Amino acid sequence: MPLTTAELIDDGAAVALTWDDGTRARFHAIWLRDNAGDPGTRSADNGQRLITVLDISADVRLKNAAVTGGNALDMHFAPGDLRTTYDADWLRERIYDHSIDEPQGWVSSGITLWDGTFQDRVPSVRYHDATTNASMLAGWLRTVEQYGFAVMTGCPVESGDLLKVTGLFGFVRETNYGKWFDVRAEVNPNNLAYTNLGLQAHTDNPYRDPVPTLQILACLENTVEGGESMVVDGFAVARRVREENPGWFDLLAGHPARFSYDGSAGTCLQSKRPMIELGPDGEMIAIRFNNRSAAAFTDVPYDDMTDYYAAYRRFAELVEDPAMAVTFKLAPGETFIVDNTRVLHARTAFSGTGQRWLQGCYADKDGLRSTRKSLETQLREAAA
Ligand code: FE2
Repeated sequence: MPLTTAELIDDGAAVALTWDDGTRARFHAIWLRDNAGDPGTRSADNGQRLITVLDISADVRLKNAAVTGGNALDMHFAPGDLRTTYDADWLRERIYDHSIDEPQGWVSSGITLWDGTFQDRVPSVRYHDATTNASMLAGWLRTVEQYGFAVMTGCPVESGDLLKVTGLFGFVRETNYGKWFDVRAEVNPNNLAYTNLGLQAHTDNPYRDPVPTLQILACLENTVEGGESMVVDGFAVARRVREENPGWFDLLAGHPARFSYDGSAGTCLQSKRPMIELGPDGEMIAIRFNNRSAAAFTDVPYDDMTDYYAAYRRFAELVEDPAMAVTFKLAPGETFIVDNTRVLHARTAFSGTGQRWLQGCYADKDGLRSTRKSLETQLREAAA
């Protein structure tokens, strides 16, 4: 979108820009100076900034700002004599001249909340396609970011092959459970996951800090009665709590919960984090919900504890509401991935006959997002 005008304001402490469609936004001189792209400010090799904020005068001003050809903006700073050019689209994508009037618990525009009606639209890709077609892999990774959950079919079914799936987009987060772990019924298990009991929907390992942000679960065998998998969008649950009772939402977001795990020798993990985590600007960041590893809550004031439990109960009721859940039975060669900061997973109880053998591992969203963005850049450049 071409720029049309650039007008210095506040004695050059800022500039007001107007685009062809009438969009108007102000930018501060200090912000522009900090984000200059000239080779003295940014490394031409790796794009990293070469200066610190201390290299910028606190009184930096714009001497001049001029639109050149519509797609570029020439700036001249003082003190010093830096003259540099900004791309009109680059600036437009970074407009910050607006107020955030979203209520607490807003989610970014790249996220789509879902409930049980999502059942027939679960994003899925075949392993073969993901490994041979960069566009299909990028598209699948994007759905993980958008919905917090996706399936891959036709995966190899040897023990440890889930690392091949994880390697398509990131790196395994090794924990005390190993690089990966088996999920099947065991005698004297060190975790209730390794029994045939049903498990209430939960996020994994909330007792870690930082928590693993992705979980990958691969099915190698599943001939039991029951043992279905279930996923619930924790952000959608939190939203429903907020709609029903904003005070309950504030209690779950405003007080830390406690989580712990010391079920195996040499391990004593503890964390203090809220069940609904918000960023400083109110954005919903993460859900932590796990009845098995919730510790005693000691950070909720006495006068709030009754209401806190009412909020916790309502959150749990909504988690167990079938209308919120997507249910499926994994078959050998099927793998699913969840955003462990958002989507809760569960399994129904299963009978002792037959075998249910899943393998799980953890990875992180930053690597997934990085791979998706890099793939998209490569695809765009190849198409240009
Ligand atoms: Fe789990």
